[in-house]
Amino acid sequence: MSIPGLFISFEGIDGAGKSSHIDGLAKAFTDQGRAVTLTREPGGTPLAEKLRAMVLNDPMDPLTEALLIFAARRDHVLNVIEPALARGDVVLCDRFTDASFAYQGAGRDFDLDVLLKLEQWVQSVPAESTGKLRQPNLTIWFDLNPAIAAERLAGARVPDKFESQPQAFFEKVASGYAQRAAQAPERFARIDAAQERHKVWQQITAVMVRRGWLSIMVASR
Ligand code: TYD
Repeated sequence: MSIPGLFISFEGIDGAGKSSHIDGLAKAFTDQGRAVTLTREPGGTPLAEKLRAMVLNDPMDPLTEALLIFAARRDHVLNVIEPALARGDVVLCDRFTDASFAYQGAGRDFDLDVLLKLEQWVQSVPAESTGKLRQPNLTIWFDLNPAIAAERLAGARVPDKFESQPQAFFEKVASGYAQRAAQAPERFARIDAAQERHKVWQQITAVMVRRGWLSIMVASR
């Protein structure tokens, strides 16, 4: 019998420190014999990566931004995420639709009903006869106070369009994540991203072990 695929997304405001932990988890799953597809949003396909460059660099109105992000997502879902899940891979995705609700919805005050509609269109996948939308099995949410995130980001690199937003924007984004998490508590695992790095890693792997997805706790990387 084939192993069912697993779809895990990673979310949080810029500066919350998700990237290195995603790489660590990819290695942990590979070491335990699983095939891993490591991907990101916006992006993950040649077309979606082109759209990412526009979204992160070019000024545009909020509707255009939302449409481009969801267009990228559609291409990514159909061409990368669905085939990987059908093969039984563990899909580790650096951001997914919760980011649209947090950044475009809460951050930019963009219409949530439009986002809900786009989510429905883009995440309805032909392979699923259940009528349910494709959603991550689990979302690891790196929750961090925006003031701490701003300190971490200061001087780190040339900021993109979102990273250069003021702290007030990230306060809205953070509350957007909290709202999404409250709407789907069984899907979200909140990680206290203010902790030391190895404690964050411990918390993440403990979630994986509890769900039966990693068999043993993996030492900090
Ligand atoms: P990020 O994931 O932080 O990548 P990097 O570590 O390379 O900077 O950058 C993606 C940015 O795109 C981030 O600022 C959040 C933003 N974004 C949205 O605004 N909406 C979305 O739906 C997604 C997926 C990302």
